[in-house]
Amino acid sequence: MQITLKNPLDMHLHLRDGALLDVVTPFSAKSFAAAVIMPNLTPPIDSLHKAQAYKQAIKDSIHSYAKAHKQPLESFEPLCALYLSDSLTPQELESCAKHGFKLLKLYPKGATTNSDNGIAQVLDSKSYEIFSAAQELGIILCIHGESGGFVLEREMEFGAIFRELATRFPNLKIIIEHISDHRTIPLLEEYDNLYATLTLHHITLDLSNLAGGALCHHHFCKPVLKTPKDKQALLDLALNAHSKVCFGSDSAPHSLEAKQKGAAGIFSAVGLLPQLAELFHKHNALHNLQAFVSDNAMKIYDLACWVQAAQAWEDNPKLITLEQAPYKIPESIRVLDSNLTPLRAGEMIAWREIESKA
Ligand code: NCD
Ligand code: ZN
Repeated sequence: MQITLKNPLDMHLHLRDGALLDVVTPFSAKSFAAAVIMPNLTPPIDSLHKAQAYKQAIKDSIHSYAKAHKQPLESFEPLCALYLSDSLTPQELESCAKHGFKLLKLYPKGATTNSDNGIAQVLDSKSYEIFSAAQELGIILCIHGESGGFVLEREMEFGAIFRELATRFPNLKIIIEHISDHRTIPLLEEYDNLYATLTLHHITLDLSNLAGGALCHHHFCKPVLKTPKDKQALLDLALNAHSKVCFGSDSAPHSLEAKQKGAAGIFSAVGLLPQLAELFHKHNALHNLQAFVSDNAMKIYDLACWVQAAQAWEDNPKLITLEQAPYKIPESIRVLDSNLTPLRAGEMIAWREIESKA
């Protein structure tokens, strides 16, 4: 059995910088037509200048890899998001929008990896000025929605903020990033301008996979994995390709040493599409995979309107063919003198990627 996906999109991806960028980027660039690249570097990507430089660094890295490996990876489009820090002004946001950077990422201060420069008060006049400018400029607001409360209640507690922002800025598109709690799902029905990205790990794993046996730090991420009920409700959204939800892996690589010290983030970029195909096939939902990994995001983010590369995708699509055949996820991926452990490291997957047309 085979399936060919047209222009797969990963709407939430961490590529990092330096040597890590060079090692992890090809996994995504091979399989996806584009990805939303998260800006939580040190220092954060919070100006036009930094966003342009980061985008160029990603493109250069892909170019070098493609040249060295004679692989046509160039068709991958990095959609770099801007980090909402205290120093980002409405004027800077306007310059960003003019230059095609139309995604803004809000991290509540301290909520996750590299969020120290995030926003301490989401509901205050300074933040409202930014949201109002974003609304005017057609910028999409991507939010890591977690409070500082009890770890399993954080996303639920943030719900009040989602409601307030969705009401106050009705023309601002707001993405609930890596939705993880079934109690957040009704917000998607209640508010026209709320959408969500969904990871592979939140639809296949729960808290027992992190802490049910010996502690598995490779399954530690923010928002933390939740209950089987949450996992099932989110899996249903994915399998039905709910029109307000799209795929965003939140692949977030950390070195083995950092993971052992408690860094949050799951490196899921290796064999991602085969894992999704395996999952959708198992649940007789392969017919909905195209919508979940591409079509929904095209519509939600209106990509053809503001991403030049996307205008060519209809006539000249990136096609990724997957087939039902065994494929082993590598045990680890070397980066300089350290290692990364991918999601499902060393496991056999029932599907593999066979062919790509750039
Ligand atoms: C991400 C990272 O490592 O940058 N970590 C994570 O657990 N998901 C940040 C984030 O998206 O929260
Ligand atoms: Zn993330």
